[in-house]
Amino acid sequence: MTTKVPGAEDFVPDTRDVSILADAVQACRGCELYRDATQAVFGQGSANATVMFVGEQPGDQEDQAGEPFVGPAGKLLDKALVAAGIDRERLYVTNAVKHFKFTLPERGKRRIHKTPSRTEVVACRPWLLAELDAVRPQVLVLLGATAAKALMGDDFRLTAHRGEVLNLPAITEPTEPDIDPAVVATVHPSSVLRGPAENRQQAFDALTEDLRVAAGLICGRRR
Ligand code: URA
Ligand code: SF4
Repeated sequence: MTTKVPGAEDFVPDTRDVSILADAVQACRGCELYRDATQAVFGQGSANATVMFVGEQPGDQEDQAGEPFVGPAGKLLDKALVAAGIDRERLYVTNAVKHFKFTLPERGKRRIHKTPSRTEVVACRPWLLAELDAVRPQVLVLLGATAAKALMGDDFRLTAHRGEVLNLPAITEPTEPDIDPAVVATVHPSSVLRGPAENRQQAFDALTEDLRVAAGLICGRRR
């Protein structure tokens, strides 16, 4: 990438200290999303975690709480983690985009999640790369197409490669961390909630199955 696109780069401090990053993200103006959101929602969990999970962006509840995956998608993720035998306490959990993007259909109505654009994902990626460089996970789980494309490239097809053990490609950014985690991409937990009720159990089981692949890697890498 030779042309300078607006982005978070100028706002990300040169540090591997997650708490310094988490403070600094509140001042980020790398894209327009900070304007309407309540606050930035940074990653959470142990800075020494072996496993990092990446979602899309904070939702309505996360935007208000300032914590990732505390709303309905987070509750479903918690259930799937239990089913896959992964302890959330041991994870570092974050999102590809740190501010909530939404539309307000009518005054006083509930804010509706909007998928972040490729430009916003790329603008926010320096924060994600800084988290990767700080936490240095051995296993990386990408939840949904936004997270998967953010790190695997825009051509990545989740439906073709979910549940496979993958490697991180070169990202061609100056701040690209020198790490080589095992990567598993799967669907976003909210896709399980949004799908038709009669398919929900099947979709949940498939998510759990992919998470078990990640769980197997965690055990393998600890030995
Ligand atoms: N969906 C996400 O991708 N991340 C959250 O933190 C909450 C919902
Ligand atoms: Fe910065 Fe990311 Fe928020 Fe945009 S979404 S303002 S790049 S932290």
